[in-house]
Amino acid sequence: MTAVKTNLPRRKFDAVIVGAGGAGMRCSLQLAEAGLNVAVLSKVFPTRSHTVAAQGGIGASLGNMSEDNWYWHMFDTVKGSDYLGDQDAIEFMCREAPKVVYELEHFGMPFDRNPDGTIYQRPFGGHTANFGEKPVQRACAAADRTGHALLHTLYQRNVRARTQFFVEWMALDIIRNAEGDVVGVTALEMETGEIMILEAKVTVFATGGAGRIWAASTNAFINTGDGMGMAARAGLPLEDMEFWQFHPTGVAGAGVLVTEGVRGEGGILLNSNGERFMERYAPTLKDLAPRDFVSRSMDQEIKEGRGCGPNKDHVLLKLDHLGADTIMKRLPSIREIAIKFANVDPIKEPIPVVPTIHYQMGGIPTNFYGQVVAPKTPGGAQEVVNGMYAIGECACVSVHGANRLGTNSLLDLVVFGRAAGNHIVSQNFKTQSHRDLPADASDFTMERINKLMNSTSGERTQDVANGIRAKMQYHCGVFRTTELMNEGVKVINELAEQADKIFIKDKSKVFNTALVEALELANLKETAKATMVSAAAREESRGAHAHRDFPERDDDKWMKHSLWYSEGNRLDYKAVNTKPLTVETFQPKKRTF
Ligand code: FUM
Repeated sequence: MTAVKTNLPRRKFDAVIVGAGGAGMRCSLQLAEAGLNVAVLSKVFPTRSHTVAAQGGIGASLGNMSEDNWYWHMFDTVKGSDYLGDQDAIEFMCREAPKVVYELEHFGMPFDRNPDGTIYQRPFGGHTANFGEKPVQRACAAADRTGHALLHTLYQRNVRARTQFFVEWMALDIIRNAEGDVVGVTALEMETGEIMILEAKVTVFATGGAGRIWAASTNAFINTGDGMGMAARAGLPLEDMEFWQFHPTGVAGAGVLVTEGVRGEGGILLNSNGERFMERYAPTLKDLAPRDFVSRSMDQEIKEGRGCGPNKDHVLLKLDHLGADTIMKRLPSIREIAIKFANVDPIKEPIPVVPTIHYQMGGIPTNFYGQVVAPKTPGGAQEVVNGMYAIGECACVSVHGANRLGTNSLLDLVVFGRAAGNHIVSQNFKTQSHRDLPADASDFTMERINKLMNSTSGERTQDVANGIRAKMQYHCGVFRTTELMNEGVKVINELAEQADKIFIKDKSKVFNTALVEALELANLKETAKATMVSAAAREESRGAHAHRDFPERDDDKWMKHSLWYSEGNRLDYKAVNTKPLTVETFQPKKRTF
């Protein structure tokens, strides 16, 4: 055994989970209840994790409002993904959905109720009955605060199960041994400035997405791609990072989310002629077509001069016809958001909205037990990375493919958080000992920290971060071109070089937010590079990747997942799993709605 050359404090757990959102806390609950010694690290208090912002619902074919089943849900998800989703994982998720929702109900989650006491479900984009025939009510809702209800429920269950929370702790780097196994993380306790090694038999990443690599985003400021950054620095690839979802209805100018549940309840989109334009683009599902469709249609309307307002730069979401009672009962937070961020009361006036970055379909590659699976070398065999799992938005399992359906994100968190928990429990980690730490366990982290703390000149964090955001927004928007993206790769690479030369003025140890922001920038940088490089290479249009120079989907050439590696800023590809677990493959077809 090689001695570890570090004086850093060390603590040992059976499992360390990084991130306390829906996925992290669903997993930790499973582990804590099974008697594992589990630590959950979070940059914020757990109930402030970004899951809290999810509004409209969690998808499950309960069939409470009309006939429904998991197979229709699976079809919608495969078609919604533009056939890039792995059909084994999609079948698994859709079959598990009713079970995990009933489990949440039994945990005490306060869902809205129908008069007969069953869970209320509303329609959502792309969810249909009978393989696309008509919209179906599949989104299980707690008013327009479903994520809030879910997160608080999970937190309370975790407190009961004695999960140990490390609040305002930021994980910094993955520790891998010579075999490539993951043996823990280094982490910063923000309050004291202490760096610590957390050793774990199993490390679970549940760090959420990286929506803050964009200028206009529905995401919380904490969503800086920390999991992706750490994975990339540790030599792991990032999968399908070119696929980013624009939510059709962000408040114009503010970016705040206005749930698709508004359209589920009957709200409609209008252009400056007062026309319900989605009838032209998606004659069957209209305003409830999948998000990539609706966002592109809105962008088209605006580009063709039918946008609203003095600058003709948004469209309107009309819901006054739903009546004050429905708005106050089903969409109370949306009314509050509209009044606060758009200065309109939706009971009387429409809300100005624009497509706004919302969700990353890509992430750290995993199987449907949450185990990270990656080739050791580019082009090499897909292998499980011992000791590491990833779940939730930071993972790519891949159930969302090139475009996620609304409500499948909360579902993904709970299904795969639970599945990872069960898989970890089944491995009997309790009876195994920790793998040895490598001698240089903390060297890389300490080099990064010392460089920042000793910097005497260089770039300002916010200048570089805002530069990345502005360039991502411009070069990688709803519609993309070869020229825009190639130029984007160049400028993002330049900004990434600047990100390596950050100067921070504040050298204090205690709650040094300048240090935290600089560390976050290192993660933003990796995620932005992965996105830009993967997008520039994909010469087709599929799901959320709409390429003006290659307007058609090209299944012969591009029915494959991208894998981006930080080292060498290079790409590799792997096959899509088109074989479900028990049913026939859904063959790719042209997507119409
Ligand atoms: O529109 C919404 O309520 C968002 C839901 C989702 O992203 O799944």
